[in-house]
Amino acid sequence: MERTLSLIKPDGVSRNLIGEVIRFFEKAGLKVVALKMLRLTKEEAKQFYIVHKERPFYDSLTDYMSSGPIVAMVLEGENAIARCREIMGATDPAEAAEGTIRKTFGLDKEKNTVHGSDSPESAAREIAFFFSELDLISGTR
Ligand code: CMP
Repeated sequence: MERTLSLIKPDGVSRNLIGEVIRFFEKAGLKVVALKMLRLTKEEAKQFYIVHKERPFYDSLTDYMSSGPIVAMVLEGENAIARCREIMGATDPAEAAEGTIRKTFGLDKEKNTVHGSDSPESAAREIAFFFSELDLISGTR
């Protein structure tokens, strides 16, 4: 069983897509084992996306991610990291496959509705960024 961190970004929350996004994950068999709504400060967004600090879009991305409420969740399932990424689709909604979250709801590369961890190492770091071990309800319990 694997776990991954997913975020519903400000464009998803502001357009009332929380339920729709969670539906995509749940209908694919991923289990929500932790969930919360919060608003990141600019500093927190910078910490969360620290691996992108040299990228030209870092400042804009972290402004955007701290611009409004987001939903953070931990998804659990077989190959949860890869499956979550498949369900989300490519970063750029214009390049995302039909039937993916980003193809369906994404607006552009930045306002692409969802985030998902890209490796086991990022998943561990990103889950710990938002949740403590006590917050995680195992899908098997
Ligand atoms: P996410 O999965 O949250 O991880 C890093 C984010 O950077 C990515 O989704 C995109 O939203 C954002 N991103 C990647 N490339 C660009 C880009 N060229 N311009 C703006 N944002 C980008």
